[in-house]
Amino acid sequence: MNSLIVKALGFAAILIIATIVVVKQMHIDLSDPINAITIIGAIAIAVLTAGVSAKYISQMKSDTASGELADENWDGIGEYKNELPSGWAYAFLGTIVWALWYWTIGYPVDAFSQIGQWNEEVKTYNKKFEEVHKNADQATLQQMGESIFLVQCAPCHGVTGDGLSGKAQDLTKRMSKEQVLYVIKNGQNQLGYPMGAMPPGMASGEAAEKIATWIANGSKGTPPAEFAVCASCHGADGKGNNGMSPNLTEYDQPLVEHVLKQGKKGMIGRMPAFHGRFTPVQVKALATYINTLKDN
Ligand code: HEC
Ligand code: HEC
Repeated sequence: MNSLIVKALGFAAILIIATIVVVKQMHIDLSDPINAITIIGAIAIAVLTAGVSAKYISQMKSDTASGELADENWDGIGEYKNELPSGWAYAFLGTIVWALWYWTIGYPVDAFSQIGQWNEEVKTYNKKFEEVHKNADQATLQQMGESIFLVQCAPCHGVTGDGLSGKAQDLTKRMSKEQVLYVIKNGQNQLGYPMGAMPPGMASGEAAEKIATWIANGSKGTPPAEFAVCASCHGADGKGNNGMSPNLTEYDQPLVEHVLKQGKKGMIGRMPAFHGRFTPVQVKALATYINTLKDN
């Protein structure tokens, strides 16, 4: 036998033995048709690699150049005009057919996935969590809220909720005078309340100052007469007209819900949305905890 063929067979044997070792080491289950086909493919590739290498090595030993040279040459090195090799073209078409088979039958897009399984497990766990805590008392909610807050919110709002020297909202107070004036001047439309947008320029000058001072001081006592224009939407007491618009006097649960769902970009900066990250009980816990931060 030609020594080149012997070498090629040896090479193929090494590749096949290596494949078999890997299959054994990884305990791959060959009764699974996908695994079996993959292994057959790997062996076929090993044999083809050895065969094609042998063919070209022997060709390189005896071949002389033929065919038409292209016009370009680089430092005297020319290039032949070659036909597209038919083997390559068939292999290319073959991979397209294989890809279609793989997506539709071999491993369809809606097949099992670890991410899908994880999502399902989280859903089941959350349902259980909601069930256990649906009537959680105030102390439990507060504790739960604190632990979520310290992990998710404290990096921006600070462990005491003071907003880290103005880098985020100071949650011990509802809003500063500057913030209220900013919203009055610019309007706002991002929290997704049923009422929709707050138009800009609802008040100005003296009137705006008086209203903003009252809100910034904790909305205590009777609001100034100028607040009447705001009351039509925010309610006479500024508490948000039964959830139609934001409560301006405290961080009530609907406000926390809206902010977590939409995120917020205001005078201070941008808070990212946390939509879908918390269960309803956890949002309630956060609102409960934030309300304990108030320094009256
Ligand atoms: C036409 C109804 C309407 C009127 C009148 C109105 N607001 Fe609003 N306001 C809203 C709505 C709706 C929002 C929520 C906007 C959003 O989704 O971002 C809002 C938001 C705000 C906010 C921001 C709250 C937050 O947590 O981000 C402040 C502050 C505010 N209003 C103050 C006032 C003041 C002060 C007045 C009176 C000068 C006033 N609003 C008049 C509807 C109104
Ligand atoms: C990446 C920083 C960041 C994180 C994390 C963050 N916030 Fe905020 N938050 C902000 C900023 C900045 C503002 C002020 C936005 C503005 O009005 O300019 C804000 C504002 C708020 C407000 C007031 C919104 C209003 O309408 O007045 C609440 C309530 C709030 N955050 C709650 C939370 C809670 C609860 C968490 C944790 C789940 C949290 N934030 C996590 C940056 C953050």
